[in-house]
Amino acid sequence: MKKYKIAVIKGDGVGPEIIDATLQVLDAVSVNEDFELEYEEYLMGGIAYDITGSPLPEKTIKGCKEANAILFGAIGGPKWDNLPRHLRPESGLLKLRQELGVFANLRPTLVYDELVNASTLKESVVKGVNLVVVRELTGGIYFGTPREKGDDKAFNTMVYERYEVERIAKIAFDLAMKRDKKVCSVDKANVLEVSQFWREIVIEIAKDYPEVELTHMYVDNAAMQLVRDPKQFDVILTGNLFGDILSDEASMITGSIGLLPSASIGGRVGLYEPIHGSAPDIARQGIANPIATIASSAMMLRYALNENSAATKVENAIIKTLQDGYRTKDLSQFRAKEVCSTIEIGSIIAGFASK
Ligand code: IPM
Ligand code: MG
Repeated sequence: MKKYKIAVIKGDGVGPEIIDATLQVLDAVSVNEDFELEYEEYLMGGIAYDITGSPLPEKTIKGCKEANAILFGAIGGPKWDNLPRHLRPESGLLKLRQELGVFANLRPTLVYDELVNASTLKESVVKGVNLVVVRELTGGIYFGTPREKGDDKAFNTMVYERYEVERIAKIAFDLAMKRDKKVCSVDKANVLEVSQFWREIVIEIAKDYPEVELTHMYVDNAAMQLVRDPKQFDVILTGNLFGDILSDEASMITGSIGLLPSASIGGRVGLYEPIHGSAPDIARQGIANPIATIASSAMMLRYALNENSAATKVENAIIKTLQDGYRTKDLSQFRAKEVCSTIEIGSIIAGFASK
């Protein structure tokens, strides 16, 4: 029997609830497969700061590096908002991404047919949307130096090195080859040198992928096009900050930010997490939607563990649950037969996934 070590980080806010729901699904799906999952819990974020004084304790970094994959809930909350930057929960996550070298963040946006009415956009605009944002995750303005915050002036630096653009572009083109063979690279090359550089390198990499159609879009236009006609996109390739913004925007095409998973890959160990935050306003009420995390665990099974049959079972179980009308509160107005708590939705998905 194969054994995989999964580092589990519940984090803050709704993190523990959505992870508990997800672990039920993983347990259920592994019953009929020839692998076992061993979970080891680690602290990160506000809770880690409260207990250890650091948002990312050394023990967490070490445990994550030794695991086969990392499943992560969410971090942050108003309680820690006034801490100095390096102690904030977000710094823990950013440092973990950097430590792991997970430079590629894949954020698929898939509109479930059952939820076409949940989107704030018209059904005709969103039905059938299936795109993925490939966001560069360990560079750009998030990490560039110099950076400084003074009394009269503050600044950050948006910087990309050639190798950083090359490797993320390759990920996007490789992915496009398995999909509809379209890459739209999003930048701000009409204003920023760093974007002009990005664009030139993407064009160079594209030469190795003659079958893939490459287009370029300025980020302001891309933000507009995403709500005007999201079906025009297959793979959106972009930098760290633009990808952060566009992936939140893309999530609302699907009706709820509680549905979108992500995989951060490119290092030895991958990090699998929902794209949403810790939602402190709804924490501990049992109403958070765990589907984004459950879908992230499916990405984990597929990309990190190569357990494709289990991954497909989890994905199908999500679809079946939605088809049967089970909804968490965020989606209760959309063809709901029954409104369920976070853990109940997890059990229902687990039930379908174990078949
Ligand atoms: C995300 C989040 C993070 C980011 C925050 C929490 C640092 O918004 O994963 O999209 O900006 O990358
Ligand atoms: Mg974000």
